[in-house]
Amino acid sequence: MRTLDDLLKHGVKGRRILVRSDLNVPLKDGRVAGDGRIRASLPVFVKLLERGARVIVAAHLGRPKGEPDPRYSLGPVADRLAQLLGSPVEFALDTVGTSARLMSAEMKDGELLLLENVRFNPGETSKDDQERLEFARHLAFLTGGEDEGGAFVEDAFGAVHRKHASVYDIATLLPHYCGDLVRDELAVLRQLTGSPDRPYVVVLGGSKVSDKLAVIDSLLPKVDRLLVGGGMCFTFLAAQGHEVGDSLLEPDQTEACRGFLDVRDEDGASKVVLPTDIVVAADVTEHAATSVVPANAIPPGQKGLDIGPDTVRTFGDALAGAKTVFWNGPMGVFEVAPFVAGTRGLAEAVAAVDGLSVVGGGDSAAAVRALKIDAGSFGHISTGGGASLEFLEGKTLPGVAVLEEH
Ligand code: 3PG
Repeated sequence: MRTLDDLLKHGVKGRRILVRSDLNVPLKDGRVAGDGRIRASLPVFVKLLERGARVIVAAHLGRPKGEPDPRYSLGPVADRLAQLLGSPVEFALDTVGTSARLMSAEMKDGELLLLENVRFNPGETSKDDQERLEFARHLAFLTGGEDEGGAFVEDAFGAVHRKHASVYDIATLLPHYCGDLVRDELAVLRQLTGSPDRPYVVVLGGSKVSDKLAVIDSLLPKVDRLLVGGGMCFTFLAAQGHEVGDSLLEPDQTEACRGFLDVRDEDGASKVVLPTDIVVAADVTEHAATSVVPANAIPPGQKGLDIGPDTVRTFGDALAGAKTVFWNGPMGVFEVAPFVAGTRGLAEAVAAVDGLSVVGGGDSAAAVRALKIDAGSFGHISTGGGASLEFLEGKTLPGVAVLEEH
C-alpha cells in the first residue's frame, strides 16, 4: 500500500490532490461542538499544503438522503477548519457541480478547498456500482485526472468500512495513497489483533447487544476478560435468568448471550464479567430519583441506566492489571447527570492502565471529551467507532482493501 510519504516523494507542488477525510463531527446551533476529527485530519492537510499542493477535501456529515439538506452542510466545518489551520479554507457550495468545478479549477498552490457534503449526491452511497462510479468520476475530474497530476489520499479512517464513492470507487480511478491517520489507526488496531500483551481486557457498552454480536464472537477467544456494561448488559443479565424491570432488553439475543457466558478461561471462570449493581430510575431525566440495586434484583417499573459503584470497582480491578485494553461504548446514559458516574469511573480506570489502552471511537470518544478526561492518558483514541469494530471483527474494510488491491 502506498503511503502519503510516497506521494510526497514524487512532489505535489501545483498538483490537485483529493483527500477523503472523516469530518463527521457533532454540530450545535450551527457550530462545531466537537472538533476531534477535524484536528485528527489536519496533519495530512498541512503536509500537502506546505509542499504547494492544491488540496481538495471530500467529506460527509450525518446521513442526509442523497440530496442537499442545510442541516447537514459542511459550512460550519469549513469555518472551524480555517480556524485550526490558521489559513483560509475555500468552501464549494456543491459536491461536483458548478461551484466545485469552478473553484477547483481556480485553486492556487497551497490552497485548500472543502467540497460540500458528499452525501448530498445520491451516487455517494448508492448500492448501484455504476452510479457510485459515475459520481467518483466527477470527483476525480476535479483533480484533472492522473494525466494532470491528480491523486487520491484516503485519510477518512472513520469511513473506511463504507463502500462509498468517495471512499472506495475513487481509488479505482486515481493513483491512491494511504493517509497518515488511516496508517496510524491501522497500526494500533493491528496490535490488538496480533499478539497483544496480556492480560488483554475488552470493555463493551452501548445500548444494543445485537450491534456487538459479531465483535464479541471474534474477540472472546482472544481476550482474557470481556467486561460488559451499558444498555447491552441487561440482555446478558436476562440470559442468566434475572429480572431486568423496564431496562433495555433484546429478548431474541438472550440465547446468543448465554453462549457467550459459557466461554471460560483455563480456570473455568466465565470470560464475560457482568455488572454486580445497577443505578436504576423510573425515567431518564436530570432530576430522576435514582437508587442502586443488585444487578440480579432490578425492581419492576425501574430502568437500569448506569453501572453501580461496586461494578466500577470490580471493572477497575480487572483493568488495573491489564496490559492491553480496548474500550467501546458508554456504561450508561452518561449525557444525563445522574447516570454519568459509571462511564466516568470506567474511563478513569482505562486511562490509568499501564499498557496499551485504546478507546474505540464514537460514543466512547465523545464521553472522554464530555467528561474532560485528559485524552493524553489513553494510548489511542480512535476516530472510527464502526470502522474500528469492523476491523476487530476481522471484516474487510473496503476503503483499505481498495488501496491494497489496485
Ligand atoms: C462515523 O461517524 O462513524 C463515521 O463518520 C461514519 O459515519 P456513518 O456511520 O454515517 O457511515
